[in-house]
Amino acid sequence: MRIEENKSLKNYNTFQVVSKARYFVSVNTIAELKQALAHKPSNTPLFILGGGSNMLLTKDLDAFVIHLNLKGIEVLEKTNSEVLVKAMAGENWHNFVQFCIDKNFGGLENLSLIPGNVGTAPIQNIGAYGVELKDTFSHCTAIEIETLQEKVFTKTNCDFGYRNSIFKNELKGKYIITSVTFKLSTKEHKISTSYGDIQRKLIEKNIENPSIKDVANAVIAIRQSKLPDPKKLGNSGSFFKNPIVDLATFQDFRKKFPDAPFYEISPTQFKIPAGWLIEKSGFKGKRFGDAGVHKNQALVLVNHGNATGQEIWELAMNIQKKVLALTGIFIEPEVNVF
Ligand code: EPU
Repeated sequence: MRIEENKSLKNYNTFQVVSKARYFVSVNTIAELKQALAHKPSNTPLFILGGGSNMLLTKDLDAFVIHLNLKGIEVLEKTNSEVLVKAMAGENWHNFVQFCIDKNFGGLENLSLIPGNVGTAPIQNIGAYGVELKDTFSHCTAIEIETLQEKVFTKTNCDFGYRNSIFKNELKGKYIITSVTFKLSTKEHKISTSYGDIQRKLIEKNIENPSIKDVANAVIAIRQSKLPDPKKLGNSGSFFKNPIVDLATFQDFRKKFPDAPFYEISPTQFKIPAGWLIEKSGFKGKRFGDAGVHKNQALVLVNHGNATGQEIWELAMNIQKKVLALTGIFIEPEVNVF
């Protein structure tokens, strides 16, 4: 375990912006993680870094950064129709999904190609194409930062919501997730193709009874056509959350924009795609220096090369202001901004 000083984080955040960490240590085992925590200077804040795919760094981090590089995937228990699979926090999410698909373990296929690591996935209950992490989540293990005690969190303990969990609220900054265990199917998979884009892709390929691999391939093709590859164009996936508005706001909005897409969550709650609002506000594909809005999905902000985190943040705030002025709807960032 080596503690580095003034370490560049450019290759540790998928926006690929320049930022330096005052202290940086990469840990490969839980013992190393505990050792690192014990070495943290008392007057320096702690910063846990996973895949760096859901954050925007707008400045240098005057912090003790622990890069969680815990690796390993293990099949814990297998019954006739289900399996419990545990992945360590530092496993790349998509590699883990591929591992499951190769073994014919069903449930995660719709979540193919989401950037980031396994350990950070529960924090925001990642979701895509009609499926959320919580649907197959069994439990996770975590270390309490203050006591170094290990704790198990079941699904109920995690209080999952849309891009939300207890780790973003009451327990924010209190625990480090070290592994996540999923309950997956080994036969009679519940294939979820209700999301329009997936259905279209499968029809295009003449697939009538899709396997989990077919669904994964469809999701991969859709994502590749809409979402930029962070290795080629710095980005953090959806920058904003899709706003959920009340009936009065929704009615005002619909009067102004009768063609807008929406999902009715309940008779008094409506989710509006932020990508649509941003496109309507004129930002899709626009570029301001090296900070920009993706040409195929307006919800994604991109770094065309040398944008600073501050420039991307200014663009985000500008978008937020214009969307509110035009549509009356306030959109909130989904990424964590530091
Ligand atoms: N839309 C536009 N213009 C755009 C983008 C979208 O008009 O530039 C419209 C689409 O036509 C569609 C609607 O908005 O009617 C929804 O678009 P899409 O299906 O692309 O999904 P989304 O709501 O924009 C969410 C997730 C994505 C996830 C997709 C697919 C959030 C914040 N984002 O996006 O997640 O991949 O659904 O399930 O919920 C991520 O979190 O990083 C991410 C990419």
